[in-house]
Amino acid sequence: MRLVEEQPIPRTQKAAPEVLVVGGGKGGVGKTCFSVNLAVEIARKGWRVVLVDADLSCSNVETVLGVESQTKLDDFFYQKGGKDIRAILTDTQYENLKLIPGTTGLLDVANPKYQQKVAFIRELGQLEADLIVVDLDAGAHLNTLDFFLMTDTNGVLVITPEKTSIDNAFKFLRAALFRKIERFYQSPEVGLLLKRNETLREFIDSVRASEIFDADTRKRICGELVAIARSIKPKIVVNRARNAYEAQIAANILSKFARQSLMVEPENLGFLFFDKCVPEAINCGTPFVVSHPRQKISACVTDIANRLGYF
Ligand SMILES: Nc1ncnc2c1ncn2[C@@H]1O[C@H](COP(=O)(O)OP(=O)(O)OP(=O)(O)O)[C@@H](O)[C@H]1O
Ligand SMILES: [Mg+2]
Repeated sequence: MRLVEEQPIPRTQKAAPEVLVVGGGKGGVGKTCFSVNLAVEIARKGWRVVLVDADLSCSNVETVLGVESQTKLDDFFYQKGGKDIRAILTDTQYENLKLIPGTTGLLDVANPKYQQKVAFIRELGQLEADLIVVDLDAGAHLNTLDFFLMTDTNGVLVITPEKTSIDNAFKFLRAALFRKIERFYQSPEVGLLLKRNETLREFIDSVRASEIFDADTRKRICGELVAIARSIKPKIVVNRARNAYEAQIAANILSKFARQSLMVEPENLGFLFFDKCVPEAINCGTPFVVSHPRQKISACVTDIANRLGYF
């Protein structure tokens, strides 16, 4: 019998865009380089892609992409009345790739009000595109977490094979999960209990032992907590890896922490090699998938695009 290798089914153009949000907690691990190169790669395959610079404090997608936008995300937040994100949608030198530029980084824009964030997320979903790639900033600020939670299954955690990065990504994921729980209940009692626990398992134990709730409520909350954790399925990308083995180990460690402490089961999306062509490409203002298409790191981006279903 001949075994036929199973191929993922290619997607057709979609009515509603898929959103991929790239975060990970630690600064400088390569979130922006990954977002830009993946967006360019997928656009070059013919998919309509919008790259969003949602790093509200230190945006630099334009630098890595090599464009200079006349508008800024500030213009969106300052729009009076009904907001329209298309007003700041910018063409790039790449066919099928458009850009939502970042902010000026001035204080009031770095801290948009909740309603502004909601409008921003809603508007992104209205864009005519197959894929929206959102580049987040470092840290686990509320804005970053709320943007990361735009999607349950398409949050990407970029890490490097270093303990500090894995540790930060775990804390980021935990903060995102706890933020989701907090938003779900909007209850001071649950919020207070949440703050006293470092893992979801400990939190569930403290709900079980709590006398604030009756037995039925305790049982219901515990079930809901497990369901919320299971609904988050982040994807891990290991950047700056020396080889596939090193990347796999780093991804496995993060997955194990996430599973054991948070009941979250991440998916390993792939890895990128450490390659000195990356800073070279940045300094030329050209994404490395364009300037260095034959480097192994560019093949890694293609692999990830394929794994996401963008052939
Ligand atoms: N695979 C790689 N190989 C070599 N250098 C890399 C690689 N990926 C990123 N870098 C370098 O690391 C630096 C940081 O990358 P990048 O700006 O993408 O990180 P970031 O996570 O977006 O940072 P921030 O948290 O500040 O937004 C870049 O200047 C780039 O030169
Ligand atoms: Mg960045």
